[in-house]
Amino acid sequence: MVEAMTGESRMCEIPAADIDRQKAIMMQVRCVLQDWPSQPLAYIDTYGCQQNESDSEKLRGMLAEMGFGATGDEYMADVVVVNTCAIRENAENRVLGNVGELIHTKKAKPSQIVVFCGCLAGVPETVGKIRESYHQVDLVFPPNKLWRFPELLQSVLRPVQPVMNARPRTTRRRVFDTEPDDGAIAEGLPIGRDGTVKAWLPIMYGCNNFCSYCIVPHVRGRERSRSPEDIISEARGLVASGYKDITLLGQNVNSYGGGRLYKGQPYEGAATDFAALIRSLNDIDGEFLIRFMTSHPKDASVALFRAMAESGKAARHIHLPFQAGNDRILGLMNRGYTHGGYLEKVAAARELMPDIVITSDVIVGFPGETDEDFEDTLQLVRKARFDAMFTFIYSKRPGTPAAGLADATTREEKQIRFDRLLDLQNSISEEKHRRYVGTTMKVLVDGVADNELYPLKARTNGGRLVHLIGDACLLGSFVEASITHCNSWSLFGVIAKTGI
Ligand code: 5AD
Ligand code: SF4
Repeated sequence: MVEAMTGESRMCEIPAADIDRQKAIMMQVRCVLQDWPSQPLAYIDTYGCQQNESDSEKLRGMLAEMGFGATGDEYMADVVVVNTCAIRENAENRVLGNVGELIHTKKAKPSQIVVFCGCLAGVPETVGKIRESYHQVDLVFPPNKLWRFPELLQSVLRPVQPVMNARPRTTRRRVFDTEPDDGAIAEGLPIGRDGTVKAWLPIMYGCNNFCSYCIVPHVRGRERSRSPEDIISEARGLVASGYKDITLLGQNVNSYGGGRLYKGQPYEGAATDFAALIRSLNDIDGEFLIRFMTSHPKDASVALFRAMAESGKAARHIHLPFQAGNDRILGLMNRGYTHGGYLEKVAAARELMPDIVITSDVIVGFPGETDEDFEDTLQLVRKARFDAMFTFIYSKRPGTPAAGLADATTREEKQIRFDRLLDLQNSISEEKHRRYVGTTMKVLVDGVADNELYPLKARTNGGRLVHLIGDACLLGSFVEASITHCNSWSLFGVIAKTGI
């Protein structure tokens, strides 16, 4: 990997020769696996955010290229990949519980390879636990090493001479590729996409913000942006393949480009920042929607709101996590804005796009948060009137600055705050949803549900979920839906018109 520093800029792309090496290894593994008595199968278990889902699509693509079929049954799998999440302790406990259970699948199939990757594989304390106590795990690597998956898998998959009709045994070597690095960008690896209507499109990796509670910058490294050319070419490919809903991914998409140069040179394409990128993507021919997440309020600019307002393909939705409503707590969180500053951004977005859907994240019970501080959070929610909000109880993460702060609030007190916030938001969400009832709106049918009454799932332009009555053949189409009723979480409707 090349990491040449030139002032603020860095060369952060994996050299093509290294990617070609991974491609060659995929072909070698494919040849070896052809000698297996039946097609080997892989099972991928994904936890956490959209970035992890996108990473799993890359893992799936590489596994398919190596000749693995897919299975949903851990007992059938020759390779089990657990793509983990480190954001909160309960996510970690769930992952470790499930990895612990793999002792049984491995007993039933001793040749099984267990891969532990994703954000938890970048946390030294967790890696230590895996090394000491989870001997069923064969391979461990953090997100920044994902591009080396073929090479790493090959190193634990080296089969010895197969006995007639028997699965080759593995070397039983354990590989931990957990040396920390700042990360780089790998272009050109295969992607095994999950759906046919919605697609993830990562535009940047890592995070530079170091919010004091957050483990992400510690495990995903520094912020680095893909080139506009690579992003636009991937988006064109997606549209040509029929995808209708493209979500641009990054921990902080608003700082795309970030004043930081690409390959040591200024960007030559049109898109030098996020607003310009939205405009360039909007110029691609075809009927599709551009979504993005996540936006950091400190970098959400009027230029971005204007680009969204002027780009017909940019969905009228912004996910703008506020995290806390009290200025002292926001300072301790290292968020870089105030209660008032946040509300100004919300007002600016609504001024340019009165119909914009705004969603948010909030953390309850950050160390030192008092009942009075919490009142400011409630107040912000009352003023901002989000369409939906994800509420989290603060979770102490190893290695983060907030983990060292005193925290006198009990779990019970935090739960009471959490419940109050949830009740408030649920009533706002329901009120907002009620405004849709009786209207007819264009929605994209993006999924089928296991529900006899409402077999279709659709999204409004603003991203609200609509349960629809209709036929599965409409998957991937824009239709007009009449909204008949709602609850706090979603809308319900019937199809008024197809072929629009
Ligand atoms: N504890 C609780 N919630 C957290 N988040 C991030 N780190 C933590 C933590 N340590 C939440 C933030 C973020 C969302 C993805 O997860 O609200 O926006
Ligand atoms: Fe974590 Fe803050 Fe970066 Fe989001 S912006 S990933 S909350 S450090």
